[in-house]
This record gives sequence, structure tokens and C-alpha cells, in this order.
Amino acid sequence: MPQRRLLLATNNPHKVTEMRALLGDIPFDLVTPQDLGLTLEVAEPHATYLENATEKARSFADVSGELALADDSGLEIDALGGEPGVRSARFGAPDMPYPDRFALIEGRLAGLPPAQRTARFRCVLVLAAPPPDARHLHTEGVVEGQIAPAAHGTAGFGYDPIFWLPERGMTMAELTPAEKDAISHRGRAARAMATILRGWK
Ligand code: IMP
Repeated sequence: MPQRRLLLATNNPHKVTEMRALLGDIPFDLVTPQDLGLTLEVAEPHATYLENATEKARSFADVSGELALADDSGLEIDALGGEPGVRSARFGAPDMPYPDRFALIEGRLAGLPPAQRTARFRCVLVLAAPPPDARHLHTEGVVEGQIAPAAHGTAGFGYDPIFWLPERGMTMAELTPAEKDAISHRGRAARAMATILRGWK
């Protein structure tokens, strides 16, 4: 019997590969906008991950008629009032290299002890059904850590080299991909979503 389809609401091929691995065994064929010949750019203009991901999932579900899954994520630094948050990908300037962003952050945290360098990565996943059903729901995953004064490690991407995991004694960029998936915000949100998808009617 052909499986139902789940459209990943992203134009980023890296996210497609990653989400396939994180969702694991689910009773859906994952398809991309490219597979369906869809071109749809959805901006992320909102103040919350939930609003951004909902708009992406809903737009893709409405246009394609498929069940759609979208994500939004970011780094929240408590001493910076939750910045960069939803602006993580654009922090400093849209094309600023990450080492420059690390310097910008350290410039604002300089002198703070570890207890005041707390931060977390957060990921929100939104599942949206196409009309006329039009249900949507979300899962969320968080990983807690601290901002390291200097970058360490070369794995991962984005802010991983300055995201210190106190209980591991290393940064996120020093974990193997499998170790990161096991504890990451995206891994946690995806596993919760996979449970929902396995029971989806
Ligand atoms: P998104 O693609 O709009 O969800 O952008 C999220 C941004 O948050 C990324 O471009 C990174 O700057 C940051 N981010 C999210 N997840 C991670 C992660 O796992 N490691 C490092 N940075 C992350």
C-alpha cells in the first residue's frame, strides 16, 4: 500500500537530510517542495518560533494540499534578554561569519561568570494539515547550556562552538552527530513529532 506523504516545508537540502534521520521510522514518505515542483519562499518575520513555523507549515500545506512540517529554531542567551532568539540566523548582519558573531556576543558577556552565561537552543516544529482539515499542532525541544568565552570544536554548525554543555564538559561542536542528535533541541522536538505522526489519523 502506498504510504501517505509528508512535505518538509523547507528549501534547505541540509534540513531535509537531517529531518529524515531525526524523524526515523514514521509511516509517511517524506517529500520536498522540489519533489512536488513547488517554489515558495516564506519569510520568518514574526517574534516567536511558533508563529514563524506555523506560517511556513500552513503556507506549504495550503499550496500543496499535503500534510506539511516546518521548523524554526534559535539560540537564547539569558543575559541578553533571550537574544539572538528568532533572529539567530541574522544576528549582527545577515551574512556575518559566525566567528564575528561569537566576538559580538562575547563583547556583551565579557566578565560574566558561568552562572550568568546560561543559554538554550530551542526548536519548534509545526505540523499542518491541508484544507479542509486544516489542523495544526506543534512540538518543542530545548537543550540547556552556557555560552563559552571562546569557541571549541569543529563539528555541527552555527553557534555550536560556543554552546557549552556543563554536564559533558565540552561544547556542542565537540559532539559527534549522533551524540548531538540524542540531546539536541531539534532531536527532542523531532522525536516528539515522530510519536504524533505514528498515531496520525
Ligand atoms: P532557522 O533555519 O531559521 O531555524 O535558523 C536557526 C538559526 O539558529 C541557525 O541559522 C543558527 O544560527 C541557530 N541554530 C539553530 N539550531 C542550531 C544548532 O543546532 N546549532 C547551532 N546553531 C543553531
